[in-house]
Amino acid sequence: MSALYPDSALHQADGQLWIEGVPLGEIAARFGTPTYVYSRAILTEAFRHYQQALASHRASICYAVKANSNLGILSLFARLGAGFDIVSGGELARVLAAGGQADQVLFSGVGKSVGEIRQALEAGIRCFNVESAAELDRIDAVAGEMGRKAPIAFRVNPDVDPKTHPYIATGLKSSKFGVAFDEAKALYRRAASLPNIQIRGIACHIGSQLLDPSPIAEAAQKVLSMVDELAVEGIHLEHVDLGGGLGIRYRDEIPPSVSAYLAPLLALFEGRRESLCFEPGRSLVGNGGLLLTRVEYLKHGDERNFVVVDAAMNDLTRPALYDAYHHILPVQGQSVAPQRYDVVGPVCESGDFLAQDRELAIAPGDHLAILSAGAYGMAMSSNYNTRPRAAEVLVDGNQVHLIRQRETVADLYRGECPLPLPS
Ligand code: LLP
Repeated sequence: MSALYPDSALHQADGQLWIEGVPLGEIAARFGTPTYVYSRAILTEAFRHYQQALASHRASICYAVKANSNLGILSLFARLGAGFDIVSGGELARVLAAGGQADQVLFSGVGKSVGEIRQALEAGIRCFNVESAAELDRIDAVAGEMGRKAPIAFRVNPDVDPKTHPYIATGLKSSKFGVAFDEAKALYRRAASLPNIQIRGIACHIGSQLLDPSPIAEAAQKVLSMVDELAVEGIHLEHVDLGGGLGIRYRDEIPPSVSAYLAPLLALFEGRRESLCFEPGRSLVGNGGLLLTRVEYLKHGDERNFVVVDAAMNDLTRPALYDAYHHILPVQGQSVAPQRYDVVGPVCESGDFLAQDRELAIAPGDHLAILSAGAYGMAMSSNYNTRPRAAEVLVDGNQVHLIRQRETVADLYRGECPLPLPS
């Protein structure tokens, strides 16, 4: 039994690919395709890496629900002791339905509605990460109507370059996220004067898929100098939230280990009184999940060859949206000669590809495992082309738990109706 791809729980045995103690072909036969398949062992190990690195610090690990919001996965992290970072009332409802605790929830995002603020105050969340002056006023007003005090942190924008894909860089001055660093102090003063606001902390998140720990250390340094300046004014913060962002290996990237990523940050907090929060998403779930798909057709063209599979850009949008690379392994070993293919889905868009120019030895009816799909895979899927969303299963040793049924077409148009006939 040999581990095939780092951090994936995959191995080859009896002529096919297994995840933990289950052959992927068996999952395809039992649950159909496309299906997202997660490994409990890998998800747990990823969380443990954070726990171990933070063991001697007062720190919370608040899983960024947006990366994968399936209740099965949320319940696993809740049981391991995670808090949660949410960006909508919907995500809050999911956390609570999965057994997570409201008082361990941080609420990020630039556009919180009155309804969402009310819902979060009702539930008793730990902290709102406030992203504008207008949002501060709205939270104060809603809390006032409810006779509550709202716990807040400002998400500041430290203006550092995270050196990542422009669509997932969030801490630059030009980004819509956070409050400008120069304005933050005035906002804290204002918050301190509001009757229904309790100042708790400060937050930042500079971007995602970070492979170099230095930008986040630079951001942390800036944030800490702000904490000290505020203390001089009598505004004392209890926690510093450094967001998520640690990258994973998709192809040949070499991300720092969790402990190497956190070490320079923890060094900055040595001897300080503030506790720490982190909001990891991708590094907790990315390599713990794959998308299992079936080869429908092989199509040989003059210039390119195509593998048409039953998964598409609506199931995994990252290749189309970010030109992202996901490694692909055939599930069954084939004796046919390998050829170079683009792996494409049935959606009517030229952008509907899952991989380009890959060497694969496959035949129609085979299955492919699209790796590193646990983060921002299912969570970003859609019903484009009226395609029911995939099933999701979680493998635990030799057991397989169905954690989301495949959607039916009837599910998709529930709530729609034809126009009434003219009378
Ligand atoms: N906290 C905040 C405030 C965030 O905006 C994000 C991600 C995270 C935490 C989690 O970051 P992570 O640890 O996963 O890097 N759809 C894109 C990624 C978008 C990330 C958005 N924010 C992708 O598929 O690459």
